[in-house]
Order: sequence, then C-alpha cells, then structure tokens
Amino acid sequence: MSLLNSTHGYGGLTKALHWLVAVLFGFQYLAGAVMTRMAPNGTALGLTQSAWYNWHKSIGLVALAIALVRLANRNLGDLPPWAPSLNDGEKRFIHRAEQLMYGAMLVMPVSGFLYVMAGGYGVHLFGHWHLPNPIGAWPLLELTSRLVHQVAGIALAVAVLGHVGLVLRHQLFFRDGLLRRMLPGRSGTP
Ligand code: HEM
Ligand code: HEM
Repeated sequence: MSLLNSTHGYGGLTKALHWLVAVLFGFQYLAGAVMTRMAPNGTALGLTQSAWYNWHKSIGLVALAIALVRLANRNLGDLPPWAPSLNDGEKRFIHRAEQLMYGAMLVMPVSGFLYVMAGGYGVHLFGHWHLPNPIGAWPLLELTSRLVHQVAGIALAVAVLGHVGLVLRHQLFFRDGLLRRMLPGRSGTP
C-alpha cells in the first residue's frame, strides 16, 4: 500500500486520516451534546463542564489542522476509480456528500473558533495555553458564527449518516466489499 492515493486505491495517509477524523468527529458530537446540556457546576463522565468545553475546542482545532493536511493529500496523487458496483445516482450522492464533508471539516472548527473568540470565551488549549484573541468582542459575529456552527453541524451529521449508510448497504446487503477500499493494507477496487 503506498502512502498517497493512486489508481490502485486510497493511500495509507488517506486511510489513516479518514479513521482519525471519524473518531475525532464522533468525540466532537458527544462533547457538543454533553457540554451544552449538563448543569454548569455538575460533572459528566468525571469531567466538569469547562473541561468538556476545553476538550471540545482543543480537539476541534486539532481536527482543523488534520483537515488541511487531508485536503492537501486529496490533491496529491491520483484518485482511485469509482467502485464498479456504484450506480450513477450513488456516484452523484457520494460526490456531493464528500464536498459537504470536506467543507464542514473546515467550516465547523473555523465557526467554532470565531464564535468563542467574538464572544470573549477564548480557548484554553488542552487546559494549558490561553490562545490570544485576534478578534475581540463582536456580538454580530458571535451570533452568526454560533448559528453557522449549529446549522453546519446538522448538515454534516446528515451527510455522514448518508455516507455511512451507503457504505454499509453495499457492504452488508450487496456484499461487494466497498468498505475494504478504506481499510489498511488492501487497496484493491472490489
Ligand atoms: C472540528 C469540528 C467540530 C465539530 C464537529 C463540532 C461540533 C459541535 C456540535 C455538534 C455542537 C453542539 C451544537 C448544539 O447542540 O448546540 C457544538 C457546540 C459548540 N462548539 Fe463545536 N465543533 C467543532 C469544533 C469546535 C471548535 C474548534 C470550537 C472552538 C474553538 C467549538 C466550540 C463550540 C462551542 C462553544 C459550542 C457550544 C455552542 C452553543 O452553546 O450553542 N467547536 N460543536
Ligand atoms: C464509521 C464511519 C465511516 C465509515 C464506515 C466510512 C467508510 C468510508 C469508505 C468505505 C470510503 C471509501 C469509499 C470509496 O470507495 O470511494 C470512505 C471515503 C470517504 N469518507 Fe468515510 N466513512 C466513515 C466516516 C466518515 C466521516 C466521519 C467522514 C468525514 C467527516 C468521512 C469522509 C469521507 C471522505 C471525504 C471520503 C472520500 C475519501 C477521502 O478523500 O478521504 N467518512 N469512507
């Protein structure tokens, strides 16, 4: 398996980053749900509300850095051909869902960052470093970036559910091994 994508399949870097982002985004949704619903002075799974916010913001900024690497990686090498078992409608859906997922990988962390900076909440990165606030209080930006974060969060969840649903449908019902294209070591197009 090569590091970069090729006409033989996705490269090792694409696969590693794909699953890393899937885990990080899973955590982001869990943290987003917990921290916005818990009592301000309570704990959830052993963490205070401010610890949940810190982890959510910190992991989100790490995810932004990974998204930039992923985007650059996507433009290096050749993309593998479509899996032959996909019909035209599915190809169109995958294309749109991937555009949306790549867009959201950037929009989610950027809108989150703008929201906490414009709102004056700041980022205490991993509980160790206070990031400088390049924006300062800006109520209109605070409001709009929060809205963008919430709406893009819903759009991303819908795209990911459709994406996973399509993969599982092929994997479990058509048994064409679509999932293998993103698993380590096996680049073959089923
Ligand atoms: C990288 C991907 C990210 C994802 C997928 C994500 C996802 C989410 C989700 C699903 C929520 C819950 C929305 C709700 O139920 O109201 C949320 C809330 C929030 N996120 Fe993120 N987030 C990300 C990055 C960030 C970053 C980088 C920051 C800040 C530096 C941030 C700050 C916040 C804040 C402050 C809230 C609470 C908003 C509210 O009170 O309505 N997020 N995020
Ligand atoms: C359990 C969850 C997931 C499964 C089972 C899964 C499975 C797959 C598979 C099998 C492919 C290769 C499709 C092909 O043949 O071309 C793929 C590609 C892709 N997936 Fe996922 N995926 C999951 C979660 C996610 C998440 C959370 C994101 C983004 C936030 C994502 C974004 C992408 C993208 C952008 C591609 C195209 C290849 C690339 O440029 O990286 N996936 N996924």
